[in-house]
Parts: sequence; structure tokens; C-alpha cells
Amino acid sequence: MTHRRLEVISNHLQPTGTFPYYNADMSTNSLFKTTLAPPDVIFELTASYKADTDPNKINLGVGAYRDNDGKPWVLPVVKKAEHAIVGDNSLDHEYLPIDGIKQFTEASVRLILGQNSPAIAEQRYASAQTISGTGACRLGADFLYQFAKGPVYISNPTWANHRAIFQNAGFDDIREYPYWDPKTRGLAFEALLDCFHKAPNGSILLLHPCAHNPTGVDPTLEQWAQIAAIAKEKNHVVFFDCAYQGFASGDLEKDAQAVRYFVSQGMELLIAQSYAKNFGLYNERTGCLSIISKTPQGAKEASSQLCKIIRANYSNPPAFGARIVQTVLNNPQLNEEWIHQLKTMANRIIEMRQALYSSLLTLKTPGTWNHIVDQIGMFSFTGLTPAQVKVLRDKYHVYMTTNGRISMAGLNTSNVHRFAEAVDWVVRNVQ
Ligand SMILES: Cc1ncc(COP(=O)(O)O)c(C=O)c1O
Repeated sequence: MTHRRLEVISNHLQPTGTFPYYNADMSTNSLFKTTLAPPDVIFELTASYKADTDPNKINLGVGAYRDNDGKPWVLPVVKKAEHAIVGDNSLDHEYLPIDGIKQFTEASVRLILGQNSPAIAEQRYASAQTISGTGACRLGADFLYQFAKGPVYISNPTWANHRAIFQNAGFDDIREYPYWDPKTRGLAFEALLDCFHKAPNGSILLLHPCAHNPTGVDPTLEQWAQIAAIAKEKNHVVFFDCAYQGFASGDLEKDAQAVRYFVSQGMELLIAQSYAKNFGLYNERTGCLSIISKTPQGAKEASSQLCKIIRANYSNPPAFGARIVQTVLNNPQLNEEWIHQLKTMANRIIEMRQALYSSLLTLKTPGTWNHIVDQIGMFSFTGLTPAQVKVLRDKYHVYMTTNGRISMAGLNTSNVHRFAEAVDWVVRNVQ
């Protein structure tokens, strides 16, 4: 028995000499005594929605695409790729390289930077396949914790997981930059710029390049240029979390323009990509982290460090999702089909924005509602208060986050007017 083990046992010996394992009051003696962690808001919301037996319930919580029948959609092009993979006898279940499938990571970099990016031509990038977008954010945070100093700036508000990811990576100085202006229901641009200007040199800026979660508000390209100028001047480290390329506008190129602009300015940066939304591969956990460096040598070094972090974490990534994505992205015909299906998803969401807006206008719901159609991407930040959100849930069986965010994909032609009527009621009757 090791010294450490003896010590643990002697610390837990009772006066009678019995081990705690036989003590009736186990909780006070557990080696793992802790407190109950709060449940995850989104996953809890989905569980409550599933438990609700009302036939008219509406789930606007989780950011996952639904078709007009409220069902998850497996993209036909994904099905095609799956069949091709299953029928390919050359594929096996050997371990992948630590940084994943090369055809996948290379295609991912082309997708976000563009075919003709100088960073690609000059081999100034390091990429690793990751456990979806969350894993890409975490890998990037782990890397930055070792090689950058911070503080870390996340937007106010932001995706609920950002703070926790950076905290768990070890950062203890995580600050917020202004993003949402409740008065204009738009971007608090001047305040954001001012914050980046005053931030200590070398701060880490976590930015959403398109379809900002939760607000659905993105800077214009001119505004991105001003953000890039300040980031460059102050040597800030830019980390783009790109979970929605193609979802925001239905246009892959347009949704990548912020990232491409920063790269065109010669900036070093990190990019997290997720294929959960734009391929509908939510549970395949397929993503990519790329680091754009100034030199090929810098990229090589970054790549080796990413591999070192991954090896000690999950060793190497799973294959199936990345095989699907690389099959599609590297085949011109399948790629065309994917772009078409991506547009189908984006357009349905845009139509729902219009339908919700029209219903609220028809009902003459007090307030202005242009933001519903001005915002883009998966989410809309409605401006509804926590009290109104609660009544929507209790009285109308509508499930959404307390901050008033709705996932547009949860709306369809059968429920959108009913939802508008519920909103109309709470706006008139609840503060
Ligand atoms: C801003 C943002 N980043 C990252 C993610 C990560 O998603 P996933 O890990 O499912 O790819 C999400 C998902 O909702 C998101 O909204």
C-alpha cells in the first residue's frame, strides 16, 4: 500500500477504528465532498420542454435547426456522404493522428479563409480537428493560457459557455466588453471600441465573426475594420469563435468576411469552427481550431503545441463527423449540394423572422420590432424581460432563455402566429 493511500485512510479512520465506507453518515466523510453544481440552463430547458405534455408547447431554447414540421433535419448531402463512408472498405477504425484528418483540417481552413488566402499559400497556419466548436474554443483557451497573458475579453452578453471555458483553462481575469445596447437593440459600437482601446496591451479578444450568439447583431465590415485597427495597434490577441458560418446569411463567403479581413491585415489569430449547425452534425462533435501565424515556422511550432495539449487531453479525435465533412467539402458536386441545403436552412430562418415581425405588426403589439428582422443567424434577442419569459413558459408553454433570446429555428408556419399572440399578451400585461 502506498504512503499516500495509508495517509488517506488514516485521515478517515473513525474513533472506533472503522473505515468511513461502513459509516451510516457517508456524506460527511466522502473524499469527494462538494456542493451541487447548477444544471446547465439550455439542457435543463430542453428537458423541461420534453416533460411538458401540452400539445401546443414551443421550444425556442436550444440553438439547433428544425424543419417546418419542428423536426431535426439530416441534410440529404450528409446522408449521401454517410452512405459513401459506410461502403468504403478502405476505411478502418485505426487511431487518427493527434490533430485529426488532414483533408478535413485543410478543407476547414479553406472554407474559413478562402481558397486564395495568402496564409494558406504561405503555409502560415496550424490546424487541429476538435471536439466540435466547444472543443475548439477549449483547445484555443488552453493554448492561450500557456502562450498569451490576457486578460480575456468576452462580449456582454455572450454564449453562456465562453466564460466557463476560459475559466476552466485557468484564466482568472475574464472581463466583458460592451456589445448589446438595449436602447437601440443594436450594437454598442462606440463603447466596444472604447473598451478595446483601454484594454491592456496584449489582451485576448473573443469575437463572434457572424451570427452573434445571443443577440443576432453583427458589426458591419466597416466596423470590423475599426476593431481590427485597434486590435493591431494594441497587440491584442484575436480569437474568432465561428459557430455559424453559412447560417447567418446563407452565404459562406459573407459570413467569413470579418475573419478574412483580419487575416488580410497580416494579423495573427485563432479561429474555432463548428460543423454542428451548418452541417447539422450536432452529436458528431466535429470542429476545427486554426492558428494563423506570421511565419511558417511559427505555425509549425503552434501545431506541435496543439498536439501536445490534445495528446494529454483526449489523445486524438473521433473520425466519423470529420469524414462526412471532408467528403462533402472536397467533392465539388457534394459541396454545391451542401451550399444549397445550407441556404434552405438559412432562408427558412429568415422567413420566420419576417413572419414573426408581420404577426406582431398585425397584432399592433406595443413597442418596435424591427430588430427581429434586422438581426441575423440562429437567434433573436427579443428584448422580453425575465418576468415576461416566465409567463410565456407558465401560461403559453413557450420555452426560451431568461435573457429573452429565442432560437428562430424553433418557429414554423404552424406556431409562429401563436407565439406572436403570446408575446402580444405578455407585452401588454407583464412588465
Ligand atoms: C457562439 C458559439 N460558440 C460555440 C458553440 C459550440 O457549439 P458546438 O460545440 O456544438 O459546436 C456554440 C453553440 O451553440 C455557439 O453558439
